Amino acid sequence: MSSVVVTGAAKGIGAGIAEAFARAGWSVVAVDRDKAPLEQTASRIGGTVVTLAGDVADRATNDAAVKLAVDRFGGLDAAVGNAGVTLPKLIDETTPEEFDRLFSINVKALMYLAQAAHKALAKSKGSLTVIASKTGLVAQRNSPIYVATKGAAVQLARALALDWAPEGIRVNAVCPGIVDTPMLKQFIDAMPDPAASRREHERAQPLGRLATPAEVASAVLFLATPAAGFITGVALPVDGGFTAE
Ligand SMILES: NC(=O)c1ccc[n+]([C@@H]2O[C@H](COP(=O)([O-])OP(=O)(O)OC[C@H]3O[C@@H](n4cnc5c(N)ncnc54)[C@H](O)[C@@H]3O)[C@@H](O)[C@H]2O)c1
Repeated sequence: MSSVVVTGAAKGIGAGIAEAFARAGWSVVAVDRDKAPLEQTASRIGGTVVTLAGDVADRATNDAAVKLAVDRFGGLDAAVGNAGVTLPKLIDETTPEEFDRLFSINVKALMYLAQAAHKALAKSKGSLTVIASKTGLVAQRNSPIYVATKGAAVQLARALALDWAPEGIRVNAVCPGIVDTPMLKQFIDAMPDPAASRREHERAQPLGRLATPAEVASAVLFLATPAAGFITGVALPVDGGFTAE
């Protein structure tokens, strides 16, 4: 049975990814700093899901997650760096502490996950997938530091794809458009008219609606399977056509 580590698995896209892998018969190590919702999600999903509560911005959490997969499931076939936070603030309002926090969770944690998983993925000829964003491909207004972290995530995936190709490890980025998750709700609720903002977001997608976490998860699952065996170094938009314009 194949095994995967998924970070940020308590809610939103990460919960969808953990569910998709579990349904496909993978053993899942589900990681999140939010312990109670993580446990609830794991028991809702069923299948073989073990949980690890911790902050991905700590190297130790990533090490422990990979060790759990290796000890419990005999190896690691895929790692998915999904945990992320947003910062809907203009640059003049952004503090150095907020900048550091965003880069720690959205970028440095991906380095820690890659470092923790490298040896095990080399052994399995597995894959690493990072959840970036369409904002890693095209910019968006009002969240400059968030956009910068997602650009970094895309380029980290491309660079690692090159460095790890000789070892047979594939690395890709998935770039979701606007997905209906708690993160989106937080972003929209910070707007002066949340209902109007939601309609605006829906209208801005060529497909005229938001994505579901399951629609992102199916792309992530595909990238981890032998069906995607010659796909590495791509930044795959799952954005309803947004970046086609
Ligand atoms: N929702 C969207 O529209 C959208 C679009 C593009 C990209 N993304 C990206 O997808 C990923 C998931 O987003 P989401 O919308 O599901 O977010 P969410 O806020 O709904 O869920 C994120 C999960 O990650 C966990 N998490 C956050 N920081 C963590 C940390 N330091 N350590 C451990 N766990 C942590 C949270 O507890 C939560 O369970 C993020 O990287 C986000 O930037 C989201």
